[in-house]
Amino acid sequence: MREFSTFYSEFQLKGRGSVWHPCTIMKQHESYPLIPIERGQGIWLYDASGNRYLDAISSWWVNLFGHCNPDINAALRDQLEKLEHVMLAGFTHEPAIELSERLVKLTPGSLGHCFYASDGASATEIALKMSFHYWQLCGKPEKNQFISLQNGYHGETLGALSVTDVAIFKQIYAPILHQYKTMPTPDWRYAETGESHRDYALRAAHALENYLAQHHATTAALILEPLIQGAAGMGMYHPIYLQRAREICSRYQVHFIADEIAVGFGRTGTFFACEQANITPDFLCLAKGLSGGYLPLSVTMTTDEIYEVFYHEKSSRTFLHSHSHTGNALACRAALATLDLFEQNAVIQANRDKTDYLNKITLPLATHPKVKNFRNCGMIWAFEFETEDPEFSIKCFQAALKQQLLLRPLDKTVYFIPPYIINQQEMNLLVNGTLKVLDEWSES
Ligand SMILES: Cc1ncc(COP(=O)(O)O)c(C=O)c1O
Repeated sequence: MREFSTFYSEFQLKGRGSVWHPCTIMKQHESYPLIPIERGQGIWLYDASGNRYLDAISSWWVNLFGHCNPDINAALRDQLEKLEHVMLAGFTHEPAIELSERLVKLTPGSLGHCFYASDGASATEIALKMSFHYWQLCGKPEKNQFISLQNGYHGETLGALSVTDVAIFKQIYAPILHQYKTMPTPDWRYAETGESHRDYALRAAHALENYLAQHHATTAALILEPLIQGAAGMGMYHPIYLQRAREICSRYQVHFIADEIAVGFGRTGTFFACEQANITPDFLCLAKGLSGGYLPLSVTMTTDEIYEVFYHEKSSRTFLHSHSHTGNALACRAALATLDLFEQNAVIQANRDKTDYLNKITLPLATHPKVKNFRNCGMIWAFEFETEDPEFSIKCFQAALKQQLLLRPLDKTVYFIPPYIINQQEMNLLVNGTLKVLDEWSES
């Protein structure tokens, strides 16, 4: 077998690759080499030359308990000997049943039903389709529009992209997307000087109310990312917005879809972000950390009321949506092992101590002369770095690698979403390494 490094330099020289990488300007890799990762252990990723990188963004926000986690590995090995996959139509299996029952117990209100898929975007599609279909079945076919938040992100399949508002992903595809309305974001970075985060969130909720007062008859659902708009650059907002949005949606008979694909499973400091507003959505979308980040698995949970409308003998009155790997047994087993880890290690409480520690040691970052809007919510930290360099993101990524860090800024926003197993020594390394990257930048 060829050495990875030889392979990748050949790749760069020829300027063509059999792997077409996601969210990547492929041509950039003529100047910036891809990093061939050979193995992962805990918070660390190891490349073919033996260099290691602290996975400070949990490999696109999915990994909760580290790479090659011994407990999840053991559960998967056990499951492999029993059943790797069976279609979930006409058949069922223990991991899917147990996972559904445990998720139902963990979620608020009457979210009693789990519809599985493989990735986050599919969970969004399912919520949108179910909402639309529900209103059809209830004799309100005119409720066929969706609303979402300015800067929101819900995935990149066509339906999910239609309710996404991130220009870099959406703009070019606009002619083949549905044109839905976006509501002002509650992200406090948009507040007026002197306006509190809460007041700004209330102002954004007021705009939502004004819109729905006029358009509720044609609106099926509002979809949003509770508390943190991830792809928007970790835009954070006050939970009062969620409370108000829930009240407004209930008043106007508009479904409330909470996309907790990125923020679920403890990321915001509570198991689900919606808990901080004490609300129950009509649909809850989960993915990423659901399987501990191990395997593609997503779920759209919904209420008894919605499920019952589809509980019918006629095919036109049922939800005939499917993905081949729906409820994959291995992925469900990884999810069960992940939930066990939460229970056995009182993770949410332990994370609060980690958050306190990281907040203490990030003071030099928060007060850095080129850092703006330093913010934290649960196990997510973010700030904007003041620079005019349009290539800041890729250059910062490269500079961070030299400090043994995997950082991947969203434009000028640097963020940390570390796996929950991060220890104090690793947190020190993360903060000191980031400071070095920023200081070198400030001097150059
Ligand atoms: C809030 C949110 N929704 C949906 C998605 C899409 O998930 P996936 O990439 O698994 O399709 C993401 C992915 O980052 C996300 O952050």
